[in-house]
Amino acid sequence: MIEWIVVDDEAEVGRTGAGILLDTIGDNPRAVLGLPTGKTPLPMYASVVERCRVENHCFRDVVTFNLDEYVGLSPSHPSSYHSYMRAVLFDHVDVDPSNVHIPDGTGLRVRQVRPDVTLDEALELECELYEEALHNRGPLEVTFLGLGRNGHIGFNEPGTPFVSRTHVISLTESTRVANSAYFSPGETPERAITVGIATILESRSIVLMAAGEGKQEAVQRLREVTISEDFPASALHRHPEVRCVVDRAAFGR
Ligand code: GLP
Repeated sequence: MIEWIVVDDEAEVGRTGAGILLDTIGDNPRAVLGLPTGKTPLPMYASVVERCRVENHCFRDVVTFNLDEYVGLSPSHPSSYHSYMRAVLFDHVDVDPSNVHIPDGTGLRVRQVRPDVTLDEALELECELYEEALHNRGPLEVTFLGLGRNGHIGFNEPGTPFVSRTHVISLTESTRVANSAYFSPGETPERAITVGIATILESRSIVLMAAGEGKQEAVQRLREVTISEDFPASALHRHPEVRCVVDRAAFGR
């Protein structure tokens, strides 16, 4: 069941998302959160950080799992999602680094203990370990999502099976073009590790955020309620508790 929450603008989408996040950790200081990257959640993180400056919110026991990371980028690469998360949230709140989980797109974590495996084998093992960590520390209480123009959630591109778990995915050309702004020409990664759709759907509740006219077509498709693997976000119709926080520009008429 999707509940639509339509607000004025991008900033309000962010404030609404931040309110849900802070209420969640207020109610349960050990909450396990699924966290997104991209442009859309930036106002949410800014609002969380801002409110943490003036109100008392404790992240110490909060556990986070990011949804995705590019293959080939080290955590220190400025365009990695590791760097993104440090810059927008983790460097500004009292989160315990041992509670933070982001897939390792280099395979190095695995190769340190299994130097015999190839890069692809290491990435497969990394996905299995990530899924295992999610299983051990989860379930996810609230997962926040952005929405790709082609309907991707996390980096689950069109055609990804709804039964998918954490896996390596080849990015579509349109996603690579959309994300090329964050990379030098010709350096946009071709692959990513993403939490799977089945894993996302196991979250107790889900908050999808979308803002701006560029998301209108994708939001429209989601409102049509045709469930198809060609449009990954449509899997959310199979979940009992989804809130879609969108601005007027994205919601359209
Ligand atoms: C990115 C991320 C997704 C994100 C989506 C939309 O590539 N991997 O998790 O939700 O695409 O991004 P944006 O918010 O920048 O439009």
